[in-house]
Parts: sequence; C-alpha cells; structure tokens
Amino acid sequence: VPRTWLPRLPKGRKHKMLAVAQKALWLVRSRPTLFLATLRQYWLFARTRLLRRWVFTPENGIELAENVRIQRLSCLSAERPQASISIGRDCIVYENARIQAYGQGRISVGETSIIGDARIYSRSSIRLGRRVVTSWNVFIQDFDPHPIEPELRAIQMEQMCSRFRPSYRDVPTAPRLDWDFPCAPVSIGDDVWLGANVTVLKGAQIGDGCVVATGAVVTAGQYPARSILAGAPARVVKSL
Ligand SMILES: CC(C)(COP(=O)(O)OP(=O)(O)OC[C@H]1O[C@@H](n2cnc3c(N)ncnc32)[C@H](O)[C@@H]1OP(=O)(O)O)[C@@H](O)C(=O)NCCC(=O)NCCS
Repeated sequence: VPRTWLPRLPKGRKHKMLAVAQKALWLVRSRPTLFLATLRQYWLFARTRLLRRWVFTPENGIELAENVRIQRLSCLSAERPQASISIGRDCIVYENARIQAYGQGRISVGETSIIGDARIYSRSSIRLGRRVVTSWNVFIQDFDPHPIEPELRAIQMEQMCSRFRPSYRDVPTAPRLDWDFPCAPVSIGDDVWLGANVTVLKGAQIGDGCVVATGAVVTAGQYPARSILAGAPARVVKSL
C-alpha cells in the first residue's frame, strides 16, 4: 500500500481491522477488479470453511490439520473405504486443485505447502513434503489409468462406456477386464518447487529442495536433493 496518502498507524492488535479496511479502500480505488477478485477468494475460503466439517471427515478418509485453507469442497476426494488424504497445518489449497485418492491410494501433503492449479491422483501413495509449492497445471499421478496393450484398452473402453450413466440406449454388457493399474509410489521432498506445466509420473522420488523447471516430465527414478530438474524426461541440469 503506498504510504503517500495513508496515515501511519500505530502497531497493535486493535488497529488490525482498520489496516484491513484501509487496504480494501486502497484496492477499491486503485485496482477495482483485483478488489472484486480478492472478495471472491475470501468468500470461497469462508464458504468451504463453513461446510467442510460435514464433507472432510476421517470417515470419508480426509484429515485436515490446523488452519488448512481450502477454496472448494470439490478440491479433495477420497474413495471409501480405504483411500485417504491428509493435509498438514497451514496449507493452502486453491480452487482449481484436484487431490483425489482412489482404491487404496494415500496422499499426504506436508505442512505449510501451497497447492495451486494441480491435479494429484493416487492409487498407491503420493507424499509431498513440507513447504512444497505447485504452480499452474501441475500433474502428479502414481498409476497408469489405462493398459498400454491396445486389446486390453479396447475391453476397458467398452466396459467404461457400457457402465457409464446416464445412458440413452441399452448398451450390451462388456466382457470383464482382468487387469491391475500399474502403480509405484511418488515422493516429493521438503521445500520443492514444481514449476508450471510439470508432470510427475509413477515411481518418481524427488529429493528435498529441488526445483522442477517449467514443462518438465519427471519419470520413475531417484533425483538428488537440491537439484534443478528440467526437460522431458527430466534430468538434473544444475545443483543448488
Ligand atoms: C528452473 C528455473 C527457475 C531457472 O533456474 P536457473 O537457476 O536460473 O537456471 P538457468 O536458467 O541457469 O538454467 C540452467 C539450465 O537449465 C536449462 N533449463 C532451465 N529451465 C528449463 C526448462 N524449463 N526446460 C528445459 N531446460 C531448462 C537451461 O537451458 C540451462 O541449461 P544450460 O546450462 O545447458 O544452458 C526456471 O527455468 C523455471 O523453470 N522457472 C519456473 C517458472 C514457473 O514455473 N513459474 C510459474 C510460477 S510458480
């Protein structure tokens, strides 16, 4: 806030409200659209905070530590009865994030992490350390959802389409598919920054303090701590 037209405020708790009002006034005057966007953000966080105690429960496989800020209820979902999600204290989960655990999948996010526009899908285990930040369009998945053999994939597609509801005709029941999702746990250490458009695939183990450069595709393997990973497939391009 520019100091030129704001009076100096004495420090202390009782002036906090006034400071917030001043900042709001400054936003209204100098950046009205940002003000509206900020109001909307506050509203989304507040609405989710009111409703989440009925949706995010340990029975539903979701554990939230103290002061977790989540913008939408649809950000988290865990398939009953075995999938689970736990989010550490002080984390922020923005509205476009999708954190979903299926089957026996487990997702844990360490404290003070920021999950932006990220898709995180687990059927095995995905662990994010403390103070991890994900940027836009980040994709993390610890399984492959479709068979690579075309014959098996054909059966899977027929099965999915025949079971899908709504259906506007009687689709014949598809043959049973005998196939398990290939899975391997993903681990992302403390203090990792996942840049925009990063993909992390099954079996990737990213060490503490790494930066994953924009557009990188991190495949299975161990990546040393304090490295910059870049490219597809990702390689260590620099040590920090
Ligand atoms: C990784 C990053 C921070 C750069 O770090 P840096 O220490 O300045 O690294 P440099 O620019 O010196 O690059 C080091 C090497 O990695 C390569 N590199 C950097 N980013 C790369 C990328 N995204 N893809 C491929 N190679 C990349 C550089 O070409 C360079 O290679 P060279 O040594 O052969 O010349 C930056 O490239 C990046 O990806 N930022 C993320 C931006 C983002 O996602 N923003 C969203 C907001 S959170």
